[in-house]
Amino acid sequence: SIASAASLEELEARIRGCLACPLGAGRIRFVFGEGHPNAGLMFIGEGPGREEDLQGRPFVGRAGELLDKMIGAIGLRRGDVYIANVVKCRPPDNRVPTPFEAQRCLAYLRRQIALIRPKVIVTLGATPLRELLGISEGITRVRGRWLRLEPVGLPVMPTFHPAYVLRQYTEEVRRAVWTDLKAARARLDGIDQ
Ligand code: URA
Repeated sequence: SIASAASLEELEARIRGCLACPLGAGRIRFVFGEGHPNAGLMFIGEGPGREEDLQGRPFVGRAGELLDKMIGAIGLRRGDVYIANVVKCRPPDNRVPTPFEAQRCLAYLRRQIALIRPKVIVTLGATPLRELLGISEGITRVRGRWLRLEPVGLPVMPTFHPAYVLRQYTEEVRRAVWTDLKAARARLDGIDQ
């Protein structure tokens, strides 16, 4: 079972053939996630896009380039953090995953989080906020405020998705993301806020 997977490798091996939702039949590659297996900081996005589906790696397209810059801006490298998505298979035409798809996949994400045991999670955009934390309020209202992910009360900082930042490349949006990332970095360093 998923719960007894003792490592990320074991978990990936068990779920990479998943057909629990309709997205499985349409994938080219399963996108498990990647990064430091005990990262202090974990980023959670929505789901693979075209490039991710082709390569089997998260955030390797345009949004990924910006995510790499975001990670660099707080003095870290991609290999220092862990990057995963709510759904592991690409939704057709990059549509938002349905609640059914997301919920089927969520057990995998929860097991990843339990194995990695990050100190801080940064969620990217509305989908992880809604599906993982059950918050359907708009990302614009919720971003920048610390949330807690039960059962252990893991600190979660919701911010904008890098794809949104690329579409909405304004001073205001960029400053908001920078503020959120700095807060996550400070929390990672054990600085109270
Ligand atoms: N957008 C996401 O949410 N996840 C990816 O892996 C790539 C783009």
